[in-house]
Amino acid sequence: MQFDEIIKDTNFSDADKPNLIDYSKQYNDFDWNRDAYSKLEWLPDGGLNNAYECVDKHVKNGYGDNLAMIWLGKNGEEENYSYTDFKNESDKFGQVMLDLGMQKGDRVFIFMDRLPELYFAAMGILKAGGVIAPLFSAFGPDPVKDRMLDAGASYLITSPDLRKKISPILKDIKTLKNVIVVNKDNRFTDPLDDGDLDYNKLMSKADNKKFKMVNTSQYDFSIMHYTSGSTGKPKGVLHRHQAVVQQMLTGHWALELSHGDIYFCTADPGWVTGTSYGMIAPWTNGVTQIIYEGGFGAAKWYEIIEKYKVDIWYTAPTAIRLLMRAGEDVVKKHNLSSLRFIGSVGEPLNPEAVVWGERNYKLPIHDNWWQTETGAIMCANYPSTNIKPGSMGQPFPGITMGILDDEYNELPPDNSGILAVRPGWPSQMFAYWKQDEMYNSRFKKGWYITGDQAARDKDGYFWFQGRADDVINTAGHLVGPFEVESALIEHPAVAEAGVIGKPDPIAMEIVKAFVTLNPGFEQSSDLRKELIRFSRDKLSAGVAPREIDFLETMPKTRSGKIMRRLLKARELGEPEGDISTLEDD
Ligand code: PRX
Repeated sequence: MQFDEIIKDTNFSDADKPNLIDYSKQYNDFDWNRDAYSKLEWLPDGGLNNAYECVDKHVKNGYGDNLAMIWLGKNGEEENYSYTDFKNESDKFGQVMLDLGMQKGDRVFIFMDRLPELYFAAMGILKAGGVIAPLFSAFGPDPVKDRMLDAGASYLITSPDLRKKISPILKDIKTLKNVIVVNKDNRFTDPLDDGDLDYNKLMSKADNKKFKMVNTSQYDFSIMHYTSGSTGKPKGVLHRHQAVVQQMLTGHWALELSHGDIYFCTADPGWVTGTSYGMIAPWTNGVTQIIYEGGFGAAKWYEIIEKYKVDIWYTAPTAIRLLMRAGEDVVKKHNLSSLRFIGSVGEPLNPEAVVWGERNYKLPIHDNWWQTETGAIMCANYPSTNIKPGSMGQPFPGITMGILDDEYNELPPDNSGILAVRPGWPSQMFAYWKQDEMYNSRFKKGWYITGDQAARDKDGYFWFQGRADDVINTAGHLVGPFEVESALIEHPAVAEAGVIGKPDPIAMEIVKAFVTLNPGFEQSSDLRKELIRFSRDKLSAGVAPREIDFLETMPKTRSGKIMRRLLKARELGEPEGDISTLEDD
C-alpha cells in the first residue's frame, strides 16, 4: 500500500492532513560543534570494545564528571552516576568476573529488571571480554532454560525474586559455573541459595585499580540476543564489538544523540533495542540516560520528561497508541517543551500516531526500522529529511535496501515484495549461534533476507507491509509460534496446538492459540483459563496466548505440519487460499 492510500484510509481531519512534515529548519539549528565528542577510539592496546567506547572513553577525555545515568526506582528512589562512577563500578565488576575465571567469549546471562547494577555488570563483562546475553525479566522458566542451554551459559546475574522464579531449571544448565545475585538495597530478606554469590559482597572486595581491560578485537563477540523465527525455538543472534560503529553513528544521525543530552529510552534491556539504543548508542555518544525501573505509565512518563528535561525520547508504537488512549488532557498537564526529538521503532507506526504526536508534542515522531539481526538502525526518518507519515523512512547512509520478487531479483520502485539488505554493514549479525544452515538461509543472491514484506516509493522511502513468515509481533516483541505451541502441548489436556498473531488495535497483534484436546478432556472455559495460566507461568504474560479456541481437528498438511496460515485465514474470515496440501480429515 502506498503513502496516499494509507493517508486515505486514516481519520485525519483536513487541517491535519499532512503531505510531508518538513523539519529541515530544526536541523539547521543543530549545534554541529558537538559532533566532535562523538568519535570512536581504539583501546590502548589497539582493540575495540563497546564498553570502553561507552564509558572509559569519556573519562579519559575529561568528561568523567558528566552524568551517565539517572536511575529512577519503582519505589520513588533516585540515584545518579557520573561517567567516573560508571567506570569504577564496571571495572570492579570486570575484576569480579576475571577473578571468577571468566574467559573471553564466555556467555554471561543477565536476567534482571532495570537496575543500575544491570548496566555496571553489562559493561564490566564486556570490558573483561565476556559476551552478554540479556533476558527479558518477565520470562518464565521455559524461555530462560531454552536460551541458557542453547548458548552453553557460564554465568547468570539475577535478582533474588527472579532467581526464585527459575530455580527449578538451573540444575539443568550443566555449563553454569556461578549465579550472582543482586539484592538491591536489601529489598529481599531471604538468605541466598546455597552456592550463589552475593553481588554486593563480591563488589565490596573487588579492586577496580587492579582491573586491566581485556584487549578485545573488533571481531570478538560482544552481545547475544535470542530472536524468534517461525520454525524451531528462538535463535541466538551473535554480534561483535564492531557493531558499535553503526550503533554510535545511527544514535547520532538518526536519533540526534549528542554529549550532554538527556535521553529516555523506554525499551527493556532484555530486547535488542534496550542494548543497542538503551546502552551502546547513547553512552558512546556521551548522553545522560534516564533509566526508569517501572513499566508504561502515561502520567509517569510525562512527569519524567518534564522533571528531568528530557531532550530525546525513543519509544515504540504500542506505547504511543497507549499514550493516545490516555488522552490529550494528561499531556496538557505537563510541560514537555524540553523534548527535541522523538523516535519510534519495533512495529509499524500508524500515520495517525505521527499526526497525533505532532499535535500534542509539537514534534513529529520519527519511525525507524531495524532488527535483532541488523544490530542497529538501517532505515529511518531523519531529523534532516521530510517525514512521510506511515513510512519507515530511507536507508542509513551506506546501507542499500531493496525490494525483491519471489526469485530474489530486485524490483523497481512502487512495487511490494521481500525487504532485503545488501550484506556487509558493521553491525550485521555474525551468526545464529550454532545454526549455520539457518544463518545461510537468510542470504540469497547477494542479499540478506529480512523476513519482512515492504514497498519502496519513487522517493526512496520504504513502507512496511507485514511479516513474510508466521512470526508474531505483539507490542513490538517478536514471538515465535513454535515456542508457544511447545509450551501448550506440555499440558496433559492438549493434543495439538497451532498459534497465530491476531490483529489488535493497540498491540498490533496478540498471540492466539488453537488447541485440540486429548481423549478424556472436555472443552470448557475453566480449561481455557487453566491453559492460559499454565502458559503464562511457563513463558511470560507477554508471550503466552491471550485467547485460546478449542478445535475438533487441527488443519495440517499431509506431512503433518500445522497450517497456521489457514488458522489465521479462518480467524479473520479471509479466503483460505491454496489448501491442496491440506490433510483429509
Ligand atoms: O517485522 C519488523 C518489525 O520488527 C522486526 C524486528 O524485530 P526484532 O528483531 O525484535 O528487533 C527489534 C528492534 C527494532 C522487523 O523485522 N519492525 C521493526 N521496526 C519496524 C518494524 N515493523 C514496522 N515498522 C518498523 N519501524
